[in-house]
Amino acid sequence: EKGGFASFMDKEIHDQPAAVADTLRGRLDAQGRLKLDEGVVDEYVLKSIDKIIVIACGTASYAGLAARYAIEHWTRIPVEVELAHEFRYRDPIVSVKTLVVAISQSGETMDTIMAVRHAQQQGATVIGIVNAQGSTIAREADAVLYTRAGPEIAVASTKAFVSQITAGFLLGIYLAELRGNKFPDEIDALLSELDAIPAKIQRVLDTAAPIREVAASMANERTVLFLGRHVGFPIALEGALKLKELAYIHAEGFAAGELKHGPIALVEQDQPVFVIVPSPRGRESLHSKVLSNVQEVRARGARTLVIAEEGDTVAAQHADEIFYVPAAPVLMTPLLCVVPLQIFALELAAAKGYDVDQPRNLAKSVTVE
Ligand code: BG6
Repeated sequence: EKGGFASFMDKEIHDQPAAVADTLRGRLDAQGRLKLDEGVVDEYVLKSIDKIIVIACGTASYAGLAARYAIEHWTRIPVEVELAHEFRYRDPIVSVKTLVVAISQSGETMDTIMAVRHAQQQGATVIGIVNAQGSTIAREADAVLYTRAGPEIAVASTKAFVSQITAGFLLGIYLAELRGNKFPDEIDALLSELDAIPAKIQRVLDTAAPIREVAASMANERTVLFLGRHVGFPIALEGALKLKELAYIHAEGFAAGELKHGPIALVEQDQPVFVIVPSPRGRESLHSKVLSNVQEVRARGARTLVIAEEGDTVAAQHADEIFYVPAAPVLMTPLLCVVPLQIFALELAAAKGYDVDQPRNLAKSVTVE
């Protein structure tokens, strides 16, 4: 059932092109509008919402952070992303004009369930982005958009993560169209860019030998830092989380712009630092600013492991190791950039002899608060 892979996690990493493709498939009705899988939310309600709050835990919360840039850009609705267990306790400002999006693979995470109930009591509309059919969040939400990742067995989430981001994009596209922010041809263009993502993930998988080799040689590292900016920031957080979960190595993800405000003090000789470099085709200033960060840490002795877009020869000049991902619209690049980091954590943990499917102290679904 591992399909010839050494672990469920490795199999699930390789399932990601299909997980994204399946999450995208057959989503539009005859009018070209997104179909929710279960439940109905009145279009009038969706036209009148003035805020979106994403609630989730762990990797699912990083999927919310990654999707937020696109949802805000396409819809012009403010999006907050809040850890479910923090949400209830800060007296959140929620009204009938709030759309709460609960993201959960299992649909059974108690922290997220309790936050959903709290939001509903305040009058919010709740849409679940859920993988497990018929789970508690799927049943209690006003409507559900299922991720179609299939069963995820490994404790550390991979294919659910990319499916959650994809579902977040679909929701953003739907709201943008409904509210008249985007016209049909723009929607078509976004959807066809999304349709091209699975083949690009496959390409990352097919060219992953270098990251596997580097990871296998790093079993003795004690700490690894991850830097990202804009959509790369949540991916830095997710890369660090994967390494903690699987390899039990201290890891931190930082917003690259924050480096000079503190984290650079951590950098010493041979410190491995992953940097997710934005596309040079995006905002030029971001590309050069993150490359300056690469140079700053390298000047202090860091070993720089750079994830960059294919053809980015400038990034290659500042990298000790470089891993390429295919070009894609900037807002969609999290779906590609996370893959090398998943593989890195998997291979490093395997090199240490750990059980990558069942990391110590962790459960797939945490059904207590
Ligand atoms: C954690 C799992 O406990 O719960 C993570 O170990 C997961 O992998 C998180 O991201 C949230 O789970 P769910 O099922 O709500 O997406």
